Amino acid sequence: MSTEPPDGGTLSNLLKEDRRFEPPAELAEHANLKQEAYERAASDREAFWAEQAERLSWDQTWDRVLDWDDPPFAKWFVGGRLNASYNCVDRHVEAGRGDKVAFHFVGEPVGDTRDITYAELKDLVSQAANALTDLGVQTGDRVAIYMPMIPEAVVAMLACARIGAPHTVVFGGFSSDALASRLEDCQAKVVVTADGGYRRGSASALKPAVDEAVVKAAELGHTVDKVLVVRRTGQDVTWNDDLDVWWHDAVESASTEHAPEAFDSEHPLYVMYTSGTTGKPKGILHTTGGYLTGAAYTHWAVFDLKPDDVYWCTADIGWVTGHSYIVYGPLANGVTQVLYEGTPDSPERGRWWDVIEQHGVTLFYTAPTAIRSFMKQGREIPDQRDLSSLRLLGSVGEPINPEAYVWYRHVIGGDRTPVVDTWWQTETGMIMISPLPGVTHGKPGSAMIPIPGIAADVVDDDGKSVPDGSGGYLVLTEPWPAMLRTIWGDDERYKDTYWSRYPATEDRGAWYFAGDGAKKDTDGDLWVLGRVDDVMNVSGHRLSTTEIESALVSHPKVAEAAVVGAKDEDTGPAVCAFVILRDEAGDGGADIVEELRNHVRKQIGPIAKPRQIMIVPELPKTRSGKIMRRLLKDVAEHREVGDVTTLADSSVMDLISQGVDSGKDEA
Ligand code: WTA
Repeated sequence: MSTEPPDGGTLSNLLKEDRRFEPPAELAEHANLKQEAYERAASDREAFWAEQAERLSWDQTWDRVLDWDDPPFAKWFVGGRLNASYNCVDRHVEAGRGDKVAFHFVGEPVGDTRDITYAELKDLVSQAANALTDLGVQTGDRVAIYMPMIPEAVVAMLACARIGAPHTVVFGGFSSDALASRLEDCQAKVVVTADGGYRRGSASALKPAVDEAVVKAAELGHTVDKVLVVRRTGQDVTWNDDLDVWWHDAVESASTEHAPEAFDSEHPLYVMYTSGTTGKPKGILHTTGGYLTGAAYTHWAVFDLKPDDVYWCTADIGWVTGHSYIVYGPLANGVTQVLYEGTPDSPERGRWWDVIEQHGVTLFYTAPTAIRSFMKQGREIPDQRDLSSLRLLGSVGEPINPEAYVWYRHVIGGDRTPVVDTWWQTETGMIMISPLPGVTHGKPGSAMIPIPGIAADVVDDDGKSVPDGSGGYLVLTEPWPAMLRTIWGDDERYKDTYWSRYPATEDRGAWYFAGDGAKKDTDGDLWVLGRVDDVMNVSGHRLSTTEIESALVSHPKVAEAAVVGAKDEDTGPAVCAFVILRDEAGDGGADIVEELRNHVRKQIGPIAKPRQIMIVPELPKTRSGKIMRRLLKDVAEHREVGDVTTLADSSVMDLISQGVDSGKDEA
């Protein structure tokens, strides 16, 4: 595995951070979790997790909390049976809260809003479950969901959970190629989609990408049975009577009665694809009982959830944050939340703050990349709105730089609100490292310490815990309920990626290797610094350098490509590519850079489109042929190029510099 040591240079900056924000007294006094929870969880972890599982409704309780007899394959709440959709919907209605609003849906077109109560949600989910069954979906079949942020997306997910058909939600910004490979990898029987959704003020089509993906999946040898289509924008769609079914025909005519069946605690709930260090995305498998326990517990504890809260998470349901903190955690907790379809600046830049003001949002969860873009626009925009309903702010997806943290707390939170910087991953399924808002003081830039029930450490190459004030690799040292169970169809890759780096020794079990570098400051608090492998985190989205390189190399004019993430104020790392053209392509033509950028966009999706492509004559390689991305990063970040002594040919960097200087680079 290629790992580079976490950037040593940042430590001195971090140590200068001495701002502290104490929990508000009122919040601390009534906090859901207090200091004692840390000790209680540490003294008997399994008892602590059993207590958290009790917040769900089980048809049958478990015989055993954790089976870790065959690591790294965990089983949680063994023998227990439950239905995730029942837990997210029906039980709230049965408890007399059917009239409570589950979603304030806010479409991007101004005025396009719709409130959905828990009772209504139960009817919708039941209808969709009946419709999927009528389309031939059976327990265990996979269903792909490729949708805009509309209520039907959540309904589709819950309907799948209800009938025990694992869903795989593919982000609507992914291309038809990306969708096709996921359809093939998990052998999806049905695709749920929409004609389109509203983004940046206009209707943006989705169905054409599904049409293409179905054809491409067939070329890969997989046939999709049915495509269920929500009419959202009213755009023209190409229709295939053998394949396509309108949602309003199939779902709205279905019965609102549907008895949820209880499934085994380890029944697969969903597969979420995420980038790994190779070109092939990994299908992260989450199962039912442990995942739902973890999502519900963390949503309650980290956001200090109270019955009257109005919660808003701005993530897309195409990412794990949308799964755990829009769908499963919040709904299991019976919360009222905002679901917003569009972009933050449509029709104008104050849109998000308008939504907060209009709905009296109390808990707000977003990503640093969004916060930084608001900072850039200036505080005048949020200052024009009344944001006094907010009582807690959350951040997720990438390290939040201290200045963004302080701005967020000050300008958006009016200096009242704690900020919880939550570290977790698609693989962890739930928040792992975060302050507890009623207990932990806030320290800008630090995710602080593992939440009660979670065990993590920062270790060196040999697995020795590093002392306070030093950096190393982030590991999770005990299994946790929402942990991934495997990579779909690839147990070997699961073992190899996460568990081979720190295998069990005589004194301890195996540790989970997160792929992130981290530091402990002099107080012992954790600072997550970012990926140490060939995975980038651009605007909070995970991309693999190899995946983008493969996309570039698939272009007929490209011979070789190397991709790095270069620092960018707005997006965190930005995608920078170095490309060697094939001889027969000559200089590639005047538009070569734009041509290649669009090619990547088409292959993977707009988020992967390189900010910069540099056409170079050579790439720096070690004697064993490994590309030295560190040196390319120096070039991309306009730094003096570092140590070149391990290069097979040390003149290569001069050639690259010449290539870059000859005007082929595009900023
Ligand atoms: C990064 C998103 C620092 C990290 C939930 C991790 C963070 C990757 C934080 C997972 C944070 C996420 N501070 N880094 N608070 N949260 N990350 O799978 O590199 O899309 O490994 O899950 O995002 O990204 P993923």
